[in-house]
Amino acid sequence: MRKVYIEPSLLSADFVNLARDIRMCEEGGADLLHLDIMDGCFVPNITIGQPVVKAIRQVSNLPLVCHLMIVHPERYIEDFVDAGADYISIHCEGQHHINRTLESIKSYGKFCGLALNPGTPIEFAFENAEICDFILLMSVNPGFGGQTFITSFLKRAERLKDFLLKNNLENVLIEVDGGIKIDNVQDVVRAGADMIVSGSGLFNGNLLENIEKMRKKIQEVIT
Ligand code: DX5
Ligand code: ZN
Repeated sequence: MRKVYIEPSLLSADFVNLARDIRMCEEGGADLLHLDIMDGCFVPNITIGQPVVKAIRQVSNLPLVCHLMIVHPERYIEDFVDAGADYISIHCEGQHHINRTLESIKSYGKFCGLALNPGTPIEFAFENAEICDFILLMSVNPGFGGQTFITSFLKRAERLKDFLLKNNLENVLIEVDGGIKIDNVQDVVRAGADMIVSGSGLFNGNLLENIEKMRKKIQEVIT
């Protein structure tokens, strides 16, 4: 049976009570934790770095997915591996040699992912899919939580899914990030998503209830 992962983005968590919110994600049955690393250069915002990832690692056994929204991600792969990342995604727009950086993540035995901004040709994903464990398609422009889902995005996910199936690359997972809420998650899953990132859609309101509602919506589509 198809498995779809729920991946809360801690960017929308209460940072004063981060450990509590992480525990709630676990209790609610989240599959992964999404950590947004922003440098104020690749994106206009600055968030967290390795020390916070390391602290999160100490309070959770859930796999940590580090979404690096930074220029020159190749310089920091080892740091995030040491901090406890299990999955690392790097943007193809981030001024580095894509293949070399993906190989570097793999060399540490971690899951590597290539991330694409909404305006980036989907062919970047096609060209690099073979080496990737997952491909992150942004459904908002990266930098902030709480933005509106770009609906034209769904066609991109469908094209990628189709490409993966036709090329025997069905093991490469599609992660979708940005603007996903309980009321549009089914469209995203139908378009082929395997890893659902959601920040404000889960943390605004009752986190436990929201995870459960999202899980139900997903189940309706995949069963
Ligand atoms: C945006 C980040 C997202 C963000 C998603 O640049 O990559 O992970 O936290 O937040 P929502 O789900 O609120 O759009
Ligand atoms: Zn993200």
